[in-house]
Amino acid sequence: MQPLEIKPGVYWVGGIDWNLRYFHGYQTPRGSTYNAYLILDEKITLVDTVKHYLAGEMLERIGKIVDPRRIDYLVVNHVEMDHSGSIPAVMELASGAKIVTSPKGKQGLERHYGKSWDCLEVNTGDELKIGARTLKFVQTPMVHWPDSMVTYIPEDRLLLPNDAFGQHIASVERFDDELGWNIVREEAAKYYANIVFPYGEQVNKALDVVERLPLEMIAPSHGVIWRTYLKEIRESYRQWANHESERRALIVYDTMWGSTEKIAQVLRSGLEEAGVTVTMRFLQTNHISDIVPDVLRSKLILIGTPTLNNGMLPTVGAFLTYVKGLRPKNRIGFAFGSYGWGGQGVRQVAEAIGEMGWEIPEEPINLRYVPDAGELAQVKAVAGRLAEAL
Ligand code: FEO
Repeated sequence: MQPLEIKPGVYWVGGIDWNLRYFHGYQTPRGSTYNAYLILDEKITLVDTVKHYLAGEMLERIGKIVDPRRIDYLVVNHVEMDHSGSIPAVMELASGAKIVTSPKGKQGLERHYGKSWDCLEVNTGDELKIGARTLKFVQTPMVHWPDSMVTYIPEDRLLLPNDAFGQHIASVERFDDELGWNIVREEAAKYYANIVFPYGEQVNKALDVVERLPLEMIAPSHGVIWRTYLKEIRESYRQWANHESERRALIVYDTMWGSTEKIAQVLRSGLEEAGVTVTMRFLQTNHISDIVPDVLRSKLILIGTPTLNNGMLPTVGAFLTYVKGLRPKNRIGFAFGSYGWGGQGVRQVAEAIGEMGWEIPEEPINLRYVPDAGELAQVKAVAGRLAEAL
């Protein structure tokens, strides 16, 4: 694929990772891109790079526009290696280039690559004239690393926010409207849920800055560029950052001999009869990274496990470990399951829900061996009360 001019003199020169299916624990069925942007001005500027194994692809794209040895500035918005991995290759060619990054970015680069490249440290409010254009920098710590910053070009009304507003999508399309809101929103929500969820407070601060900027385009470091759904994606980010959810339920469970599954199905039917939309996620067939977008969306979250070896099933443990790290707030939680003796699994789930600070309107359901008709009737009654709490 050729480089693409997204604004006069500003080119997408990134890499497309068609085969990426796993990104540090996050399943990426659509692959991804690492977006780098080349700005032709008096000073030739590259903003971010790509994963190390796509360095050749990026340099080939740059080479179709300008000799990479002529790059004057390399802006590093974020040091995580999906974006910094090709800095050594660029700096080897453009040996006179200066890296422009935050103070934490400089420290991070030294720790990652052990090099002392010529570096200009920038802080929030700093500006760099590169000719007709000005690069303005805003630090956005913990969106999603301490070094994260965004670059804004007022003359182009263009924001280069690195990971923020990203989506893991490999495609020949480069713009949001070419894929359509439904696909892009789904992947942006999945990205937010898996990567940005813990940092709502910091996202809100970053949004306060972004909302004051005149914007025609947001060009993140993954996926497609926002030029049509700018308002929609900013509104979605605000809702997610505020931990707002919908009046719907998510049931996540695993089962050994079908009893916890039976309880899950009765809870589903009780909630549905009470008018609640329910999503079912069975942990043997759904990856945890595919379930967290449902956590992002759902107010009521019911988690079910049998007891195995005095504890919850490992699949449920992995899910809870992942979700606890993502720190969703303002949720209603409920633990349920079955056991033969002991029954510690459900108690552990209830404890984990409590540790996340979710509201717990009902005591857990923990039934021995195989639930009978009377017990299932009680389960249904609990579902009705959970619907009321919702
Ligand atoms: Fe896409 Fe935080 O790296």
